Amino acid sequence: MTTTNTTQRLDPVEMLGERFVAAIQNAFPEQLGSESVDPLITPSKNPKFGDYQSNAAMSLAKQLGMKPREIADKIAEHLELGDLAEPLDENSIAGPGFINVRLRPESLASLVTELDRPGLGVKAEEQQTIVVDVCGVNLAKQMHIGHLRSTVIGDVMARTLAKMGHTVIMQNHVGDWGLPIAMVTAKLQSEVAAGRIDMDKVTLDDLDRLYKVAKEESSPDNKGMKAAERFQLGPKVEAELSAQIRGATENLENAKKTLVRLQSGDEETIAVWQRLYDVTMTACINTCKRLHTDITDSDTAGESSFRDQLAGIIDLLVEQKIAEEDDGALIVRNEGLDPTLVRKSDGGYLYATTDLAAVRKRVQELGADRVVYCVDARQALHFKQVFATAKKAGLARKIGADHDSTLEHAPFGMVLGDDGRPFKTRSGENVKLSDVIDEAIERAAVISEEKNPDLTPDERTNIAETVAVAALKYSDLSSDRIKDYVFDWDRMLAFEGNTGPYLLFAYVRIRSIFRKAEDQGIAGGFETAELLIREPEEKTLALALLRYPSTVAAVARTLEPHRMCGYLYELAGAFSRFFEKCQVLRAEDEQVRLSRLRLCDLTSRVLADGLDCLGIQTIDRM
Ligand code: ARG
Repeated sequence: MTTTNTTQRLDPVEMLGERFVAAIQNAFPEQLGSESVDPLITPSKNPKFGDYQSNAAMSLAKQLGMKPREIADKIAEHLELGDLAEPLDENSIAGPGFINVRLRPESLASLVTELDRPGLGVKAEEQQTIVVDVCGVNLAKQMHIGHLRSTVIGDVMARTLAKMGHTVIMQNHVGDWGLPIAMVTAKLQSEVAAGRIDMDKVTLDDLDRLYKVAKEESSPDNKGMKAAERFQLGPKVEAELSAQIRGATENLENAKKTLVRLQSGDEETIAVWQRLYDVTMTACINTCKRLHTDITDSDTAGESSFRDQLAGIIDLLVEQKIAEEDDGALIVRNEGLDPTLVRKSDGGYLYATTDLAAVRKRVQELGADRVVYCVDARQALHFKQVFATAKKAGLARKIGADHDSTLEHAPFGMVLGDDGRPFKTRSGENVKLSDVIDEAIERAAVISEEKNPDLTPDERTNIAETVAVAALKYSDLSSDRIKDYVFDWDRMLAFEGNTGPYLLFAYVRIRSIFRKAEDQGIAGGFETAELLIREPEEKTLALALLRYPSTVAAVARTLEPHRMCGYLYELAGAFSRFFEKCQVLRAEDEQVRLSRLRLCDLTSRVLADGLDCLGIQTIDRM
């Protein structure tokens, strides 16, 4: 099985490219053999000569030892344009050897008609089962701005892959197990016992605080002690430090005991842990919902769900002689990578061990052909180690398959403040994601009030919420995922430029054409109207529309949502130039009006569908 995501061919530029490649290969079969050739199709420098040109002749000159002009003649001889473009004529080859082609308006119209079907031409040639690792919160911690990325980008990957027809399963690999979790469990237990916290009323803010305290209280300050000794800070300081170390060591021991109790299923301890879990996950799923993502409770598969499999994973690695002892610990060596620790010398398992169990579940139980991890770029080494080890141990191979499934880390960069450093609150804390959503809604409400004071309170609430979420998500999605980006309220909420609000507004504008048409009683009958693609702006719009299926396929392949953002922004621009130049409701005749109404409607549906890939809801007014 291959992993291509080819879509129905509707993009004339791609189709031209294929025809040029065939012509080049047929023109020079011996010289080029089976070498791949690039047709180098670009928009024509001079529209007088056509819509597109191929610059391939120039790039082949050296390799073929011929003059570009002669090469161009040869290519032209072999070029079969069929119905797609006008036949070449004596003016088609220009300059040193550009080959110009002009698309036939009827072909464009029929391709657009082809696009205008349910599904808008989006479909993978071969359907796969794909697991997408999303969100990945940790118990007892507030979701912070970094989770915006793992949640929103991961959700977009899942949506886009599903749109291609794949079976998509999201997995929220929650950090809900291990020593740090035992630490905060122990802390919560002792706080409840001391009557300082009411178990039934505990909030995520409480847990977040307890987590920090517990961590602090369980970290012996050995470094401080060394410094105190070296710089002879005196008996008082040393006494304080040794008390801290004693306390912290005790707390750490206590946490380890709690971990053992958790692992052995001690009811009382599990009940406290369950409370941590419920409070964290309720908040998490609520935030996922506020962000208009599809992530729900049923996607949660936390680290704890693998707890009974870790010993088995280790046995498997040892049996296969993949893991080896190292100073009491177990490690796996993979070429070119640091060794992967899979069991500590005290017998504890690690983040990597759990991820190995998760690979096995995803591939062998859920049947994934491809597993995609939408996780912070700083975990790149971890995933290289896990993937290499999983493959070595046969965990990445479906039962009975003759090849491994694809494991891909789709990393993302950091969100930065305007000082270029990780985005933090003024007091240096992580920025809470729910606070960011609240602020976005407040800001959007103010802007909406300015722009449209006549809205009812209900309308305003709905619009502010949709615009806010769109702005926040779009600004995250539109920058190259792998890079860091600077969080900027003003830019994300702007109604001009490549922003969420701009695209929502573009959609609203098109829908308002139809409201007007309805008022004038001329709204009906365009759905199946013949498309007439005559004006240059109509042509540009048609070409932009035809790129939609290949854009979805490209996002599905590369897992780069910014490609969709860039596309939608261009489409909106092409529409607005079309609308400026071409009368729609006051078109010269009925046939033209219906054709243009159909183009408008199709554009709005492509915009909405593309925004839907991005998990952005549309509104009819704003
Ligand atoms: N909980 C992890 C963290 O906060 C993210 C989980 C990513 N997914 C995975 N399969 N490791 O770093």
